[in-house]
Amino acid sequence: MIVEAIVPAAGLGVRMNSSIPKPLVKIGKKPVIVYTLEALAKNRDIKRILVAVNEDNLSRFKKVIGRYKIGKSLVFVSGGSTRGDSVENCLKQVSGETDFVLIHDAVRPFISQALISRLIRDVKESQAVICGAPVKATIKKVTRQLIVAQTLDRENIWEIQTPQVFAKALLTEAYKRYGSRAGTDDASLVEKMGQKVKVIEGSYFNIKITTPEDLVLARAILKEGYV
Ligand code: C5P
Repeated sequence: MIVEAIVPAAGLGVRMNSSIPKPLVKIGKKPVIVYTLEALAKNRDIKRILVAVNEDNLSRFKKVIGRYKIGKSLVFVSGGSTRGDSVENCLKQVSGETDFVLIHDAVRPFISQALISRLIRDVKESQAVICGAPVKATIKKVTRQLIVAQTLDRENIWEIQTPQVFAKALLTEAYKRYGSRAGTDDASLVEKMGQKVKVIEGSYFNIKITTPEDLVLARAILKEGYV
């Protein structure tokens, strides 16, 4: 069984207000993306990691990541203008022999080995497996004028994370049919095909570093030794 990992890292980091691309910001001793790549590289089923980066930042990414020993074959791919475009560019580079594709955002550095292994184990049976965590907050839909339109029943609402793992043929077909801009994650394209997508419980520590507040949280998680 061959798995390749796709790591979208080509975002411009507009919400971070920083001149350094988010994946290259340091938390503790290493840049965010290095934690992510090291975690993926440790899994024995993952043969190669395709990293989507913005062309303007390519040499910067290569230089920074090159300082660390990731221990797995890394390929840099040109990112696109949306996350989906970046994933699609990587999908086109996946080897013909690959059975499954694991997609994981560069900016979620705290993934455990147990989670990666479980996703890869389950995808053999389910073809599409994602992770997430039940929401803790009350979720309301609000209008543009900031008036409550609806309170959702929290019982069945999960915040979905990455990694998301798919049979390569299934994900390729979903991107072909619906295009790279049809959803905010990869699973949503597969769902449109009528394919069942299995959800397993991830971790509240698997945070996505998007805004400056998230960096504070990430540093605290690291300092407290939760990863
Ligand atoms: O922008 P968003 O929060 O969805 O970003 C999630 C991940 O997708 C980040 O790791 C970011 O670098 C990546 N991304 C990308 N190409 C884009 C936009 C985002 O690879 N055009």
